[in-house]
Amino acid sequence: MSTTIDSILVEKRTFQPPQQLVDHARVSGMDAYRALCDEADQDPDAFWGRLANENIRWHKPFTKVLNSDNAPFYTWFEDGELNVSENCLDVHLENGNADKTALIFEADDGTVDKVTFRELHARVCRIANGIKSLGYKKGDRAVIYMPMSIEVIATMQACARLGVIHSVVFGGFSFRNLHSRIVDVGASLVITADYQVRGGRKIPLKDPVDQALAEEGGDIVKKVIVYERAGGDVAWTPERDLWLHELEQGQADQCDPVPVEAEHPLFILYTSGSTGKPKGVQHASGGFLLWTKVTTDWVFDAKPDDVFWCTADVGWVTGHSYITYGSMAAGLTQIVFEGVPTYPDAGRFWQMVDRHNVTVFYTAPTAIRSLIKASESDSNVHPKQYDLSSLRILGSVGEPINPEAWVWYYTNVGGERCPVIDTWWQTETGAHIVTPLPGATPLKPGSCTLPLPGINVAVLDEACKEVGAGRGGNLVITRPWPSMIRNVWGDPERFKKTYFPPEMGGAYLSGDNAQIDEDGYCWIMGRTDDVLSVSGHRLGGTEIESALVAHDRIAEAAVVGRPDDTTGEAIVAFIMLKGALPQGDEARDLAKNIRDWITSEVGPIAKPREIRFGNNLPKTRSGKIMRRLLRVIAEGNEVTQDVSTLENPDVLEQFSNAY
Ligand code: WT7
Repeated sequence: MSTTIDSILVEKRTFQPPQQLVDHARVSGMDAYRALCDEADQDPDAFWGRLANENIRWHKPFTKVLNSDNAPFYTWFEDGELNVSENCLDVHLENGNADKTALIFEADDGTVDKVTFRELHARVCRIANGIKSLGYKKGDRAVIYMPMSIEVIATMQACARLGVIHSVVFGGFSFRNLHSRIVDVGASLVITADYQVRGGRKIPLKDPVDQALAEEGGDIVKKVIVYERAGGDVAWTPERDLWLHELEQGQADQCDPVPVEAEHPLFILYTSGSTGKPKGVQHASGGFLLWTKVTTDWVFDAKPDDVFWCTADVGWVTGHSYITYGSMAAGLTQIVFEGVPTYPDAGRFWQMVDRHNVTVFYTAPTAIRSLIKASESDSNVHPKQYDLSSLRILGSVGEPINPEAWVWYYTNVGGERCPVIDTWWQTETGAHIVTPLPGATPLKPGSCTLPLPGINVAVLDEACKEVGAGRGGNLVITRPWPSMIRNVWGDPERFKKTYFPPEMGGAYLSGDNAQIDEDGYCWIMGRTDDVLSVSGHRLGGTEIESALVAHDRIAEAAVVGRPDDTTGEAIVAFIMLKGALPQGDEARDLAKNIRDWITSEVGPIAKPREIRFGNNLPKTRSGKIMRRLLRVIAEGNEVTQDVSTLENPDVLEQFSNAY
């Protein structure tokens, strides 16, 4: 095999799947992979219909697989009825796995708590009964703002059991972010905790909820359920707030799952786009459950005695698909981790893999890169200090994994035994799309390899033409798939415009730039829009800019990403100030003040790494900000480009100082 993409490929070896994996794999060898692809190509409805019947327990069987009448508002299994929570829990009680460990929770301080499927089922039922007793029912929306815990998973499952649509907001987001999501989704219930505990620190969650609900429109929330994680010392609104443990008390251990139509929304998860406010990505119960479960089986080659650890937070889609739903439907024993990879030291992940005998480990390149760095300066936290022999598969998600990090992960964590499975997908795709299969696909470091069976992708230019091998363009998915986004909550026009623009001829536009090489291998080159990826978290440039201009000293702002060894991209903010330009300490103080502002407006992950001040921004004569030039400055380079189209070239010099 060879490739022409020299610019991004520094590691030219291909890595064959280890024979002992191939021998027992669910998809064993490339012939098996191709057979599945052929089956799907020849009769997509029969393929998806077969999977849906084999993998889901239906209350009412479906008679139609895909309905394209209203494209791009596709529906799947539309006349079928099911309950997602029943498929994640009850099925395991009935197939002899009631006493199997479902979750192994490790707290920030290392304390471990385990629950079996039977215990988790009972817990979910008690919480569901509690939520029901408050009057909530199918179709109501609940915002969940909780730390990583058994409770957050149980709470999501309890909502699914009742047909209550949840929207999880990442605990690292500010009250303002929380507020806008509560209002947009129309939540009448919030489920939170007193605090979250990460890296030895107690961080308030109930406080920001109180703040969010005090804002305009926050009074649509009638009840706030609070999980007591750390002492319970929080402000209380008695007619509105109740403790989770009190709500659960006296509730029955059984709660009949509410059958819902396959298209009933399971959840809404907000994600950043190129323009405007974050979009509420709406997922459907049947299709989402199906593809998250099947991809867990195939992509992680799920085995009954696996110990699966996806290190994502449930505030992101990865945690929805591969902690709360798909992997639970697959019946895996899973690790749930409350803390951070660097506490008490940067050996924490490896120590936990060792301690719990993790077999399948799924994390983000940004974490790997930071742990590489840490192990270079402190050999005590190097993976070789730990017994990682339980591992058989390594996964990666969130951004391209650079070949250096890939090879380090493969060698030092996987002991050259474990394939590195680089999974490309998005909040909108619900589940994996382009990814290797561990017992089949030869790997090229840095490539997410081939589309899954049933998935068709292409790279198109702006005129909807395939660009050909080794050329960059828009990565699109040319046929619908079951776990695809159904709508942008409350904004169908935006859904159509963003994901199915007429130029793409009916294909789903991912927003990613990619190349496909002559072996059909896919290489992701980054976003085509102004979406930034900071530590694997997707942030909209415009979102941060709107927060910046809300600061009383800021007239205008432009945010760009600068490549960063550890976090993928670092945020650099160019700020046009009202009034005189500050210097020295005054500039430093203002920069700090702006960072604090962003922390409270958006959240700590959106804090600019660098702030540069000017009394204007570089603009063309038609008033367009020249972001291209800002990127050059952000990377610390001299602007050598032609600036003759600039209205105000002298402004560039002002930005030479970074604070
Ligand atoms: C964006 C989606 C997928 C769950 C976590 C992020 C980037 C994701 C990869 C990968 C290269 C990747 C893309 C994508 N991305 N996985 N394996 N290789 N890039 O979900 O927040 O919706 O972000 O993350 O740019 O569009 P998300």
